[in-house]
Amino acid sequence: MNILKACLLLLIIGLFGGGLFVYSGVYNIGADVPHFPPVFAVLETFRDRSIAAHAQGVTAPPLDDPALIAEGGEHYAAMCSGCHLAPGKKNSEIRAGLYPQPPNLTEHVHTDAAEAFWVIKHGVKMTAMPAWGTTHDDQAIWGLVAFLQKLPGLSAEQYEHLAGRAAGHGHHHGTAQGNDDDEQQQGDHDAAYEAPATAPQLD
Ligand code: HEC
Repeated sequence: MNILKACLLLLIIGLFGGGLFVYSGVYNIGADVPHFPPVFAVLETFRDRSIAAHAQGVTAPPLDDPALIAEGGEHYAAMCSGCHLAPGKKNSEIRAGLYPQPPNLTEHVHTDAAEAFWVIKHGVKMTAMPAWGTTHDDQAIWGLVAFLQKLPGLSAEQYEHLAGRAAGHGHHHGTAQGNDDDEQQQGDHDAAYEAPATAPQLD
């Protein structure tokens, strides 16, 4: 009984201390101060396990259709390369300041196809990874997954060829809820955040 009481007391002190820590504001939430390694390790496991569990019911369609890959490439250049880079694009101002830093998807994709699909569709909380399923249908997201499987092997020229169509005239949406205004807006955003790194090539 005494042990039980002691445990209860510890629990209350712990909860109170936790509350005080949260409310006091001593924690530095700034993106330019990394987590302590053990905290980072826990968060990583938390994310990886969540993605693995949630992607379990997802089955990938055939991903080698050239039209699907090309559509993904076009979308990638317009929506993803600012954060995840591209052949010939070594860094970007937005990526440099993000924490956690978006992985360089020209090197390798850590997730399998089903997990990549889930991450792209739903995004990742408390990171900069958006939920693209809000504005894109599953077909468009599989296109991105298909393109990601090819991306690490692409030269800058091959990338330009596959993704180049996005540079001239924005990108076509398989939107869940898009309309022309949306597309216009999306194009503007892409141009705005790509501008620092790629301004000379944009016209
Ligand atoms: C504003 C920045 C940003 C944009 C734009 C963005 N991402 Fe991400 N993405 C991230 C971040 C940050 C992570 C890492 C999240 C984490 O650490 O859990 C991530 C993670 C991922 C992952 C999982 C990592 C891996 O190695 O498998 C995939 C896949 C991915 N993004 C694909 C995309 C695709 C495809 C697009 C475009 C449709 C995109 N992202 C656009 C920031 C971004």
